[in-house]
Amino acid sequence: MEKLKIAGGYPLKGSIRVSGAKNSAVALIPATILADSPVTIEGLPDISDVQTLQALMEEIGGQVRFEDGEMTVDPRQMVSMPLPNGRVKKLRASYYLMGAMLGKFKKAVIGLPGGCHLGPRPIDQHIKGFEALGAKVTNEQGAIYLRADELQGARIYLDVVSVGATINIMLAAVLAKGRTVIENAAKEPEIIDVATLLTNMGAKIKGAGTDIIRIDGVEHLHGCRHTIIPDRIEAGTFMILAAAVGEGILIDNVIPQHLESVTAKLREAGVQIEVADDQMFVSRGEGLKAVDIKTLVYPGFPTDLQQPFTSLLTRANGSSIVTDTIYGARFKHIDELRRMNGKIKVEGRSAIIDGSVQLQGAKVKASDLRAGAALVIAGLMAEGVTEVTGLEHIDRGYSHLVEKLSGLGATIWREKMTQEEVEQLKS
Ligand code: EPU
Repeated sequence: MEKLKIAGGYPLKGSIRVSGAKNSAVALIPATILADSPVTIEGLPDISDVQTLQALMEEIGGQVRFEDGEMTVDPRQMVSMPLPNGRVKKLRASYYLMGAMLGKFKKAVIGLPGGCHLGPRPIDQHIKGFEALGAKVTNEQGAIYLRADELQGARIYLDVVSVGATINIMLAAVLAKGRTVIENAAKEPEIIDVATLLTNMGAKIKGAGTDIIRIDGVEHLHGCRHTIIPDRIEAGTFMILAAAVGEGILIDNVIPQHLESVTAKLREAGVQIEVADDQMFVSRGEGLKAVDIKTLVYPGFPTDLQQPFTSLLTRANGSSIVTDTIYGARFKHIDELRRMNGKIKVEGRSAIIDGSVQLQGAKVKASDLRAGAALVIAGLMAEGVTEVTGLEHIDRGYSHLVEKLSGLGATIWREKMTQEEVEQLKS
């Protein structure tokens, strides 16, 4: 096991490149199951969630080639192998295997997904969608069993706006008979990306990116080549990092329109941002202002960036309130920031951050992916050395983070943990 060490307190500059979107990748790879010839996806991030999905594709009989971010999946030998345990538990997005395998084979057994612990993360809306399409769904000993004689298009109103349910229903519906309409659908860019891949495979989908998606089922889907969108959450993480410690950082491979809420909030705090076609230039302004944030579904401020933003606000002028309306318990990073001298209170779904403190290096633990990003930013802002454990979370979603930050001049490195440290972490 490794830990991350960061010598903080130094300004960073230079350019940094954003990788392909994790939350698209984890849906695009399962979507290849639906094709009847090889599908190639370009620009995938080098993260453990992608490696886990590659292994899952192979486990069900897929032939996979993955080199330099380009993955080709040949689904012709795939079978509906039950996956009640094992790798499916490693990532939340293994729930996309339900939609894709149900769509293709009309049956699937998938263990309830793992992933970041952000409080309760039900999948009732996914199941509501599968049932509306005609599937029988049961939960037996921690695995979801899905079976249908045939899938028939249906009108499905999501009671909660859910990225996962919207994509999963699309995956199940593209090969169903007749028309499916998803109402109150989520509008995230990752949904458009998945719909673009499916359309290139021959699916008939209209309205992805709006709150009503119409899908007319087709008989077959074929192989194609698709380029993934850049990761807006990784880009947003770098924007916040640049606002915290940057003396001019060029962020490359960005779709600025995906980040409007983040850009607006950083500007409100006094951060200087120049936007070009697919790049952003961000500099830490003088005297960061306190701001309040409320996370919302897209295009609102993303829940995935409230944790990194909290680190930044520890040095704002005044007191800020960050409220997470999506995951009200996504505050496990706060205890760790307190270890670093952060003055932050949590009240219900809100964190109240007292700005103008100087963070100090400490030993901290990443409890989930974006908590990890928050602690790395805090470590770069802090005086002294910070040690971050729980790197398996960071590795799930940030590609080559140490190399990318070293390229900006950060003093950051990975170190093997001693046996004693590993024991301490487990206790
Ligand atoms: N919800 C339900 N029932 C459902 C599904 C969701 O009540 O059936 C609730 C959730 O509990 C949550 C809200 O609806 O309060 C939104 O959840 P959503 O389904 O949109 O989240 P998700 O699809 O499980 C994706 C991302 C998350 C990101 C959220 C919100 C993936 C693999 N994950 O999760 O990303 O936080 O959308 O934008 O796409 C991350 O990248 O760190 C991460 C956790």
